This record gives sequence, C-alpha cells and structure tokens, in this order.
Amino acid sequence: KLCCKIGPSILNSDLSQLYNESQRLLDSGADYLHLDVMDGAFVPNLTIGHPVVKCLRNKLPNTMFETHMMVQNPIQWISPMADASVDQYTFHIEPCNDVRLVCRKIREAGMKVGLAIKPGTSVLCVEEYIEEADMILVMTVEPGFGGQQFMTNMMPKIEWLREKYPTLDIEVDGGVGPNTIDMCAKAGANMIVSGTAVIQAENPPQVIKLLKESVNK
Ligand code: DX5
Ligand code: ZN
Repeated sequence: KLCCKIGPSILNSDLSQLYNESQRLLDSGADYLHLDVMDGAFVPNLTIGHPVVKCLRNKLPNTMFETHMMVQNPIQWISPMADASVDQYTFHIEPCNDVRLVCRKIREAGMKVGLAIKPGTSVLCVEEYIEEADMILVMTVEPGFGGQQFMTNMMPKIEWLREKYPTLDIEVDGGVGPNTIDMCAKAGANMIVSGTAVIQAENPPQVIKLLKESVNK
C-alpha cells in the first residue's frame, strides 16, 4: 500500500514566525513541509524564496522540504533551492517549454521531481512526463492564494492517474481539510497538502490525524 503523507502549507501562517509555525506543525504530526514559492509572474502573489527556505533549513535539518514552485521560469531556481537542501522541487509544467530539461536539471542537482498542473490543465498534458517525475501534484484551487474553495471537479484527474499508475505518488493541494479529504482519498491521492484547515484549527494534531486516517482507511 502507498504511504500517506501530510504536508502542511505554511502560506497562511504567521510568516514572521515561520520557524515556530513549522515546528508546531511538525510537532502536530506533519510528515513534510510544503513551501509555497511564488514569483508574482506565474501567479499574482509573492511569498518566500530560496533565502528564506535556506534559513528555515538551517533550523530544521531533518525535515522533508517540498518547494511548490509557482514561478514562470522554474529552471532559474533549481540550483539555489538545491543549495538550500530542498528535498523535492515541484514545478508547474504550464510555463515550461522544455519540461524534460527541467526534470533532468532537478535530478542532477540532487532533488526529487514533482510536476504540478493547474485546474485548467488536462492530466493528459502531464502524462508524457510521468517517467521523469517522482510525484504529480493535482491542484484543486487556482494557484496563488491560500484559503480558497476546493474544486471537486478535479477528482477525475486523480482517479485517472491512480487507475493507470497504482504506485505513483499523487499530491493534492488547495482547499483540502476535514470536509474534503474523503473525496481526495477516494480518488487516490496519497500526499496531502493542507494549509488553512490545519493552521487555523483549534487542535492541529487532531486535524492532521484525521486527514491521515481518512487516507489510510
Ligand atoms: C495555493 C498553494 C497552496 C494552498 C494551500 O496557491 O499552492 O499550497 O494555498 O492552502 P489551503 O489549504 O488554505 O488552500
Ligand atoms: Zn502549494
């Protein structure tokens, strides 16, 4: 059976307390950190970049870091993110004219490869690159902001991937929480990103536990 992992997104946390917030989530049962990187070009928002990721890494040497690169030019940030000891570099295929090249550069830099698709992108567009990837990220909101409404109509993409690729790591990101986790689990997602639902919960460990149990049942 595929392993289920919960990776909170720190996007909507108090970013002045990034380390404390991250530690709090890890203490609450998070398996990895999903770090949302935006460049104001691929999406109309800015968050953190490699200098911040590197500082966080110095404080959390053993945590799995996934950077979700919502950027126009993913090749540009590979080496700085590798230098920050990022474990997995997940980028969007939409702005890329040479997805294979980006995948190769990420591997050469010693990171795992994640391929992300926006809600408007067909799952068929990512299929040709599946061999190059360690994980596929199916977005369930338009990338750019936390706290948006989960898009139920993305579930067929996950179902389709899961049916064809039983052992593939499939991540879901955007509006995932206790109310939407069952749909994600049923469709076949095994890597679960959750921002607002975990960060703003009164009892984050309880929410993380619930998310994990829903996927494992
Ligand atoms: C959206 C980001 C997400 C997201 C998660 O652009 O990629 O990681 O904000 O936060 P919630 O769970 O609040 O949608
Ligand atoms: Zn994300």
